[in-house]
Amino acid sequence: MKPILLLSVLFGLVSGETGIDGWLRYAPLSSSHVKGHVGNIPSTIAVLGSTKGGPLDTAVSEIRKGIHGIFGRTVKIASKKNACHASNTIIIGTVEAFEAACSDFPSGNQLKEDGFWLSTSHNSVKILGQNERGALYGAFEYLSMLGQANFSNVAYATNPSAPIRWANQWDNLNASGTHGSIERGYGGSSIFFDGVGHIKDDLSRVPLYGRLLASVRINGIVISNVNADATLLNKDNLEGLSEIADLFRPWGVRVGISLNFASPQLLGDLDTFDPLDESVVTWWTDKTDEIYSQIPDFVGYLVKANSEGQPGPITYNRTLADGANLFAKAVEPHGGIVMFRAFVYDKLDWNDWHADRANAAVEFFGDLDGEFDDNVVVQIKYGPIDFQVREPASPLFANLRKTSMAIELQITQEYLGQQCHLVYLPPLWRTIFDFDMRVDGKESKAQDIITGNVFNRTLGGYAGVVNVGTNQTWLGSHLSLSNLYAFGRLAWNPAEDSVSILEDWTRLTFGLDDGVLETITSMSMASWPAYENYSGNLGIQTLTDILYTHYGPNPASQDNNGWGQWTRANGQSIGMDRTVSNGTGNAGQYPNEVAAAYELPETTPDNLMLWFHHVPYTFKLHSGKTVIQSFYDAHHKGAETVQDFQFAWAALKGKVDKERFEHELYRLRYQAGHSIVWRDAINEFYRNLSGIPDEAGRVRHHPYRIEAESMKLDGYSIIAVEPAETASNYTAIVTNSTGTASTKLKFKDGRYDVAVNYYDVIGGRSSWELYINTRKIGTWKGDMEDKLGHAPSDFLDGHSATRITFRDVKISKGDTLLIKGKADGIEQAPLDYVAILPEGVID
Ligand SMILES: *[C@@H]1O[C@H](CO)[C@@H](O)[C@H](O)[C@H]1NC(C)=O
Ligand SMILES: *[C@@H]1O[C@H](CO)[C@@H](O)[C@H](O)[C@H]1NC(C)=O
Ligand SMILES: *[C@@H]1O[C@H](CO)[C@@H](O)[C@H](O)[C@H]1NC(C)=O
Ligand SMILES: *[C@@H]1O[C@H](CO)[C@@H](O)[C@H](O)[C@H]1NC(C)=O
Ligand SMILES: *[C@@H]1O[C@H](CO)[C@@H](O)[C@H](O)[C@H]1NC(C)=O
Ligand SMILES: *[C@@H]1O[C@H](CO)[C@@H](O)[C@H](O)[C@H]1NC(C)=O
Ligand SMILES: *[C@@H]1O[C@H](CO)[C@@H](O)[C@H](O)[C@H]1NC(C)=O
Ligand SMILES: *[C@@H]1O[C@H](CO)[C@@H](O)[C@H](O)[C@H]1NC(C)=O
Ligand SMILES: *[C@@H]1O[C@H](CO)[C@@H](O)[C@H](O)[C@H]1NC(C)=O
Ligand SMILES: *[C@@H]1O[C@H](CO)[C@@H](O)[C@H](O)[C@H]1NC(C)=O
Repeated sequence: MKPILLLSVLFGLVSGETGIDGWLRYAPLSSSHVKGHVGNIPSTIAVLGSTKGGPLDTAVSEIRKGIHGIFGRTVKIASKKNACHASNTIIIGTVEAFEAACSDFPSGNQLKEDGFWLSTSHNSVKILGQNERGALYGAFEYLSMLGQANFSNVAYATNPSAPIRWANQWDNLNASGTHGSIERGYGGSSIFFDGVGHIKDDLSRVPLYGRLLASVRINGIVISNVNADATLLNKDNLEGLSEIADLFRPWGVRVGISLNFASPQLLGDLDTFDPLDESVVTWWTDKTDEIYSQIPDFVGYLVKANSEGQPGPITYNRTLADGANLFAKAVEPHGGIVMFRAFVYDKLDWNDWHADRANAAVEFFGDLDGEFDDNVVVQIKYGPIDFQVREPASPLFANLRKTSMAIELQITQEYLGQQCHLVYLPPLWRTIFDFDMRVDGKESKAQDIITGNVFNRTLGGYAGVVNVGTNQTWLGSHLSLSNLYAFGRLAWNPAEDSVSILEDWTRLTFGLDDGVLETITSMSMASWPAYENYSGNLGIQTLTDILYTHYGPNPASQDNNGWGQWTRANGQSIGMDRTVSNGTGNAGQYPNEVAAAYELPETTPDNLMLWFHHVPYTFKLHSGKTVIQSFYDAHHKGAETVQDFQFAWAALKGKVDKERFEHELYRLRYQAGHSIVWRDAINEFYRNLSGIPDEAGRVRHHPYRIEAESMKLDGYSIIAVEPAETASNYTAIVTNSTGTASTKLKFKDGRYDVAVNYYDVIGGRSSWELYINTRKIGTWKGDMEDKLGHAPSDFLDGHSATRITFRDVKISKGDTLLIKGKADGIEQAPLDYVAILPEGVID
C-alpha cells in the first residue's frame, strides 16, 4: 500500500476529490517542483490592522492552511513587536496599519478600494491591502502563485476595474415543481433556502462558497431569485439573512437580496405598491432600516420589475426610474446600492415585422438617462435578447451617458448546455467586452463603458448569475467551475486573456502535469465555438426549446409566439430583419458607425448575419457558402469537434484522480452523443423546411443506422416523436412493460462501435440489454437523473434524446442484434436507432 500512496502524493494526485474546494485545494506539490524553493517559504506571518473575524484574520488562516497543504510546513504567527523588520516573514495588513506601525509605504497611494500590493523577494513577502478585503485578495494571489510552483520575485500593485463585482443567485425560497429550488440551477438545490419558505438551518456551505468568491475577488452576492418572493422580508427570514451575512463577512463578501416590487401589498398590509405613495415609501424605508439594523454592511437590492409577469412601477403609470429611486433613497443613508435590471420587455405580436424584443431595453431605459439616483446601477444582460450563444453587445451600453451600468453575465449555462456540455465561456464574453460601440466616433469598448471609464461614472461593474447548488461540485460539473473562476478574474481585469485564466485555473484544480494542462486548455477553448456550431450559428441564436427547458434542440419553438426570440424562418428565407431601412430598426440603436455596418449584409460579419438580416437560404455569405450549407457544415463540424473531447479526456487516466476523472468522462461521452442529437435535429429541421439538400450528402442520409421502428418488434410499439426532427426518421419505439427489437445485420465482418440512441426522461429508470446473437454486449439504465444530475424532460424530445456507445464490438454478416427494454415509471424504455460504426466514422 505504502509505495502507491507515496507515488500519488508525488504527482499531486489526491484521491477521492469531490470538488468541494474548487481551485483552492492546496494540493501538495511534487518534490521536483519545490526543489530549491522550500527554504524560501517564510516560516512566520505578521499581521497589521486586522479586526476580529474580518478578512485579514481569514487571510492569515488561509495562508497557513495553504502553505501547510502545498509544502507541509507550519507558519507561525509573529509577535507584533518587531513585525516590520522581521526576515523570513510574510507581512500582511492594510496600507494604513503598515504606515502607522512601520513606515510610509511608497506604493500605498496607487491603490483603489479593494486593491492590494504584493511583493515577494526570496523569503520576505509583503501583502498590503487598501482595505482588509484587498489584503485577503493579495493572500489568495500569493497562494495561487505557490500552488502553481511560481516562485518568482514580484512587486506590483493591482486594482479592480470596477467596484461592483457581484454574484447573483437565482435561489427560490420554495421548491417549484420538478425543477428544483434554483431557477436555472444545475448543481443541486439551494445552499441558502430550505425549499419551504425559510432560510436553512444548515448553512455550512455558505463560508465555503464565500471562500471561492473571495479568492477571485467577488465582493458581493445577491442570494435570492430575481423572480422574487416577498416572504424573504419577513422577520424570521431577515434573521436568517443576517446569519448568512455573518458567514460571508470574513470573506469580504457583502450580502444583498432581490426584491418583489409588490411587497408592501403582498407582505405588508398596504393596498398599493405605488412607488410615489407616501405609505409605500415609508414601508420600504422602515423595512430597509430594519435590514440595516441587523446587517450594517448589507450591500443593497436587486430589482426585476415589470418583466415576465413581475410587478413594477409601470403598474401605476410611474416610470422605471421612479421605481428604482424608491429603493435608492431607502438604502442611500446606509451606503447601499440598487441594481435595477434592464431586462424589461413586453410580449409582442409575431405577425408584426417591425416588432422586436431586442429594442426593448433602449426603448424602456433610453429616455430615463439622467433620471436615476446616483446609487442606482442599471444591470444590463450582455446582449439584447437573453444569454444566447452569440449576440452583439446590448445597444443600451451606448445609450446611457448619465447612468451607472453593470453587465450581467451568466455563469450558469442556461442556453449553453446546462453544465452537461463543456462550454468555457470567456471567449463568448470577450466578444462583448471587446465590442467597440464607437460612441461619438471614438473607441468605446463595452468593457470600458462598464467600468465607467467612457462616460466618467464612479459606479459600475459586473453581475454574474452563478447558481451554485448543494452538489459537491458546486455547478454539477468540475470543468464548469472554470467559468466561475474566470468571471471573477475578468471582473477584476476585463482585458485578461481567456487562455491564461484557464491555465491558472487548471493548474490549481488539477495539478501541474503538462498533458492535463494542454488537454483541458485545448478542449475548453474549442468548446464554445463547437457549441455555437452545433446549436445555432450565423447569429440565429441557440436554437433550443424556449418554451420548455432551454436545453435541447427545438428550432420551431422560437417563432409564432409572443416571446420575441424569433428567427422568422419560412420555406425560403430566415433571419430577423433588424435594419432601419426595412426592418425593426434595432441596428439604428447603435452609434452611427456600428449602425451603418449592421445596416447592410455586406458589412455585417457572417457570425451575426441572421441576427441583423432576413435572407434566403441560398444567400451567399462572406465565406462563399450559402446560409443553408453553412448550417449543415457548421453543425457537422461542431459535433465532430466534441467527439474528440471524450478521447482526449480518457487519455488523462491516471493523471487525474479517479473520482473527477470518471465524473467528467461520463459527461463528455454524454456531450458527444447529445451534440449529434443537436446536429441532426437542426440540420433536418432546415432541410425539411427549405427543401435544399446537403451538398455533402450527410443530412438525412445515414448508411450506418438501423431505425428502431424498422426492426422486428415484440412488446414495443412505434410512436411519432414531437418535435419530429429530434428522432431519426421522426419516430421512436416504446414499451409499457418489456419489449425486444431485433434485426439481422448486413454489415461485412469486422469490429464496430455500436451506438444506441434512446431517450432518458425524468421519473423512470428503464433498463436495456444489448445482444449480438446470444452474446450480451452491454446493459444500461435510463438513470441520467442520477449520473448526470440533470434529466431535463418528461417527454421524448431533444432534451431527453441521448446516446450510448459500445466500442470495438465484433460483428459478422448475418448476426442478429437484439435489444431488450424494460420500462420503469413513465419511462417506456424508448429507442430511436442503432448505428453500426466502422472505426473512425461519425455517422
Ligand atoms: C508568476 O506570478 C506572477 C504574478 O502573478 C506573474 O506575473 C508571472 O507571469 C508568473 N510566472 C509564471 C511563470 O507563471
Ligand atoms: C413559499 O412558502 C411559504 C411557506 O410555505 C409561503 O408562505 C409562501 O407564500 C411561499 N411563496 C411562494 C412564492 O410560493
Ligand atoms: C394609466 O394611464 C392610463 C392611460 O394613460 C389609464 O387608462 C390608466 O387608468 C392609468 N392607470 C393607473 C393605475 O393609474
Ligand atoms: C468626471 O466626473 C467627476 C465627478 O464625478 C468630475 O469632477 C470630472 O471633471 C469628470 N471628468 C470628466 C473628464 O468629465
Ligand atoms: C452531484 O452530482 C452528481 C451528478 O453530476 C451526482 O452523481 C452526485 O451524487 C451529486 N452529489 C451530491 C452530493 O449532490
Ligand atoms: C422588407 O420587409 C418585408 C416585410 O415588411 C419583407 O417581406 C421583405 O422581405 C423585406 N425586404 C427585404 C429586401 O428584406
Ligand atoms: C465551426 O464551424 C466552422 C464552419 O464550418 C469551422 O470553420 C470551425 O472550425 C468550427 N469550429 C469548431 C470548434 O467546431
Ligand atoms: C417535411 O416534413 C413533413 C412532415 O413529416 C413532410 O410532410 C414533408 O414532406 C417534409 N418535407 C421535405 C422537403 O422533406
Ligand atoms: C422511415 O419511416 C418511414 C415511415 O414513416 C418508412 O417507410 C421508412 O422505411 C423509414 N426509413 C428507414 C430508413 O427506416
Ligand atoms: C401498452 O401500450 C400500448 C401502446 O403502446 C397500448 O395500446 C396498451 O393499452 C398499453 N397497455 C397497458 C396495459 O397500459
